[in-house]
Amino acid sequence: MELYVDLGAHSYSIYIENNILKDTGSYIEKVYSGKKIMIISDDNVFPLYGDTIVKTLEYEVHSLILPHGEPTKSFQSLPKIYSALLEARFSRSDLIIALGGGVIGDLAGFAAASFLRGIKFIQIPTSLLAQVDSSVGGKVAVDLPEGKNLVGAFYQPALVLIDPLVLNTLPERYINDGMGEVIKYGCIADEELLTRLEQQEPDWPRIIRRCLACKAALVAQDERDEGPRRLLNFGHTFGHAMEALGGGRYTHGECVAAGMMEMLRWQTAHGSDQTAMLARLGTLLERYDLPRRLDLPETAWRQYLLRDKKRSGGEMTIAVLERPGHGVL
Ligand code: GLY
Repeated sequence: MELYVDLGAHSYSIYIENNILKDTGSYIEKVYSGKKIMIISDDNVFPLYGDTIVKTLEYEVHSLILPHGEPTKSFQSLPKIYSALLEARFSRSDLIIALGGGVIGDLAGFAAASFLRGIKFIQIPTSLLAQVDSSVGGKVAVDLPEGKNLVGAFYQPALVLIDPLVLNTLPERYINDGMGEVIKYGCIADEELLTRLEQQEPDWPRIIRRCLACKAALVAQDERDEGPRRLLNFGHTFGHAMEALGGGRYTHGECVAAGMMEMLRWQTAHGSDQTAMLARLGTLLERYDLPRRLDLPETAWRQYLLRDKKRSGGEMTIAVLERPGHGVL
């Protein structure tokens, strides 16, 4: 199944197929005719899928395997990547593959955006969160000690290959982490998806396609996140504050889940009654073991929001729900 992100000269395809990893080479040949490939991955993911992918590549293939986990997304990882690329004599006409979850996708994507002022890269996301969200749209970044994603760029991949079967090896907490974002897509754009999630076990290829169809449409209208793309931030206004204050205790999806509930409570307190949706969303989040509130002092995250508001020039645009399946800014 193919989706297309229509961005003029920066357009690209997303392919979602069970077992697609076994055909990686033939998809890459459609977009890349150079000589060398650097696979950037982590020590959890590469041992599982590295060989399967490398076998399909008729190129000079190098790999750089980094430790798994959020600390790898730090600015300090970049010199390691640039050194590996220089040692293998990579030029601007060579290619990087990001094979992993959001940490690897964001880091390898930023390395690709900045090395020699930009070399081509491909996303092969292996976490649910990366498959339904972060591998598409070109937001690439690294963290600084002062905060997450503080150094980054908009830099689109040349191709995204998604194999839903890799989700079979993900621990349940990380499936639920991705479900936080999936449920968000249902809330802002796709009530049918919400209903299916309420009634059926997840059908991964279908879920991924529906989330990415929404994302591809928003990114095509607003690549640089200045307009409608900001709808994707539903639940993130409070969620980001919770994530920062939680200091690694909570996953991104857990914070988005609690952040969506908090936003509906805020809407209800400000004249838009969301009581029915709060009950509906609460039940769905419970099904995926996602929190409805986080155990953090409310005063702390409200302070954080005020700081964020000051940083953004005194005004914030927030994504809210008008009705199930329809978000507005
Ligand atoms: N994850 C939200 C966005 O890409 O805009």
